[in-house]
Amino acid sequence: MKERKDPKTFFVRTYGCQMNELDSEIMIGELVRRGLSRVYTEEEGDILIYNTCSIRDLAERKVMGKLGILGRSKTRDKIIGVTGCMAMAKKESLFKKLPHLDFILGTNNISNLGAVLDEVIHTGKQTAITDKKFEEDLDYLSAKRESNISAHVSIIRGCDKYCTYCVVPYTRGREVSRPYQAIVDEVKGLVDQGYKEVTLLGQNVNSYGKDQKEWGVLFHDLLEKIDTTGIERVRFLTSHPVDITKNLMEAVRDLRSLCEFVHFPMQAGSNRILRKMHRIYTLEEYFEKVAMLKEIVPGVALGTDMIVGFPTESDEEFEQTYSNMEKVNYSTAFLYTYSPRKGTPAMRFKDDISEEVKKQRLNRLADLHKRQAAEQMTGLIGNKLEVLFEGRNSRGQLKGRTRCWRKVICDGPESLIGELGEVEIVSFHHETMIGNLVPSEAILALS
Ligand code: SAH
Ligand code: SF4
Ligand code: F3S
Repeated sequence: MKERKDPKTFFVRTYGCQMNELDSEIMIGELVRRGLSRVYTEEEGDILIYNTCSIRDLAERKVMGKLGILGRSKTRDKIIGVTGCMAMAKKESLFKKLPHLDFILGTNNISNLGAVLDEVIHTGKQTAITDKKFEEDLDYLSAKRESNISAHVSIIRGCDKYCTYCVVPYTRGREVSRPYQAIVDEVKGLVDQGYKEVTLLGQNVNSYGKDQKEWGVLFHDLLEKIDTTGIERVRFLTSHPVDITKNLMEAVRDLRSLCEFVHFPMQAGSNRILRKMHRIYTLEEYFEKVAMLKEIVPGVALGTDMIVGFPTESDEEFEQTYSNMEKVNYSTAFLYTYSPRKGTPAMRFKDDISEEVKKQRLNRLADLHKRQAAEQMTGLIGNKLEVLFEGRNSRGQLKGRTRCWRKVICDGPESLIGELGEVEIVSFHHETMIGNLVPSEAILALS
C-alpha cells in the first residue's frame, strides 16, 4: 500500500477528441470544487490524471509510453489515474501492465471521480469503475472551461452505429441523449457569462432524441430551441451521413445561430469498402444528400474523415476514394490510415495493406485536400467574412474562425477578442486566411 499525503494539487493531460476535452473540463471543475489547485507540470501534481484515447494504435502507444515512464520515475506519493477511452478499452488489465496506477475511471463514470479519489486516499487500494452505460447526468455546469468565448456542450453520449473499425461504441457505450431542457439552460447560462459560440458534442449528434421518443425532440428541434437563447454561433460535432436529414439542412439554412459548416464524413469512396466498414450508406445515397445540402444551403462548407488502407482496399478502390473526395471538395478533411483495434469486428479481417501503401494513399489524399483548400481560399480573396476572434497567434495578430470554420488572422485591438468582426481576405498561408479588419461602428466603439 502506498503512503498517502493529503493531495493539494492536480495535473490533467487530455488526449483524443472534443468529448474528452469536455470530460476533462468537468473533472477539473470537480477537483477545484474539492479545494485542489490545478498545476501544469507532472512534478508539481499530487494527483495526475490521464484522460486517454483509444481511437488508433498510435493514440494508445503515446499514453502507454508516458505512463510507463511515470512508473520508472519517483512518483511514490502521487495518485495516478487513467480515465477516458483507454480506461474503458483495457479496464483492470491496465493495473497488470502499470502496477503504479491508483485508479481507472471509465467514460461513463466521470461523476464518480470524487468517490474514487476518496477510496484511493483512504484505503490506498487500486480502484476501477468502468460501467458500460452512461446513467447519471453529469454536473456540466461546474465544468472549468478552457475558453471563455467558445464552449463545448454535450448533447448525447455514446454511439450505436458500430462501424466495424471503430472502438467508440465499446469505449463510450450506447447512445444516451441529455434532457433538452438541461442543454438549453446550459446554453442560456453560457450566453449570460458572455460566451459567443457553442459546439454541441456527441459521437453522432444527429441521433439526438431517438433514444427518448417520448420527448418528441429530435436534433433539429433542439437546434431551434438553442437558437432562441441568444447565442451567436452554434456548431455541432460529429454527424453520421445516414442521420443528416432534410430537416437538419433546412435548420442550417434558416437558423440565425447555426453555422454553415457540416461535418459529413465519407470515410471511404467505394461501396464495397463502405459495406465492409458497416457505414450503412451507399455512395449514391451519400452524394444525393450532399447535393441536397448544397442546394438547400448554397456556400455550405463540408468536412470529412477518411480512412485509407482498410483491409482489402484495392488500388482501384482507393482511386475511387480519391475521385469521390475530389468531387465533394471538402473545406476540412481529417485523414487517417487504418489502425486495427482490439475488440472491433474489423479485427477478423487481415490488416493486409502495407504501412507503406497506406502512407502513400494518405499522402495522395493530403495533397488533394491541400490543393482544393487552396483553390477555395483563393476564391475567397476579396470577400468580407464574419470572424469570431478567439485570441492572438504567436505573432500577436488576432485569430479567429469564420462561420464556415475557416481560420483567419488579421491585425486588430485586444478589445476585439471574444467579439465578432468583419475581415476582408487578402491572402492565405497553409490553411489560414490572412486579411484586414473592416472598420464598423461596433468595432470602432470597441477599439
Ligand atoms: N463519430 C465520428 C467519429 C469519431 S472517431 C464519426 O462517425 O464521424 C474520428 C475518426 O477517426 C473517424 O471518423 C474515423 O475516420 C477515424 N477512425 C476511427 N477508427 C479508426 C481506426 N480503427 N483506424 C483509423 N481511423 C479510425
Ligand atoms: Fe465510430 Fe462509426 Fe460511431 Fe463514428 S459512427 S463513433 S466512426 S462507430
Ligand atoms: Fe478517442 Fe474516445 Fe474520442 S477513442 S477520439 S477519446 S471518443
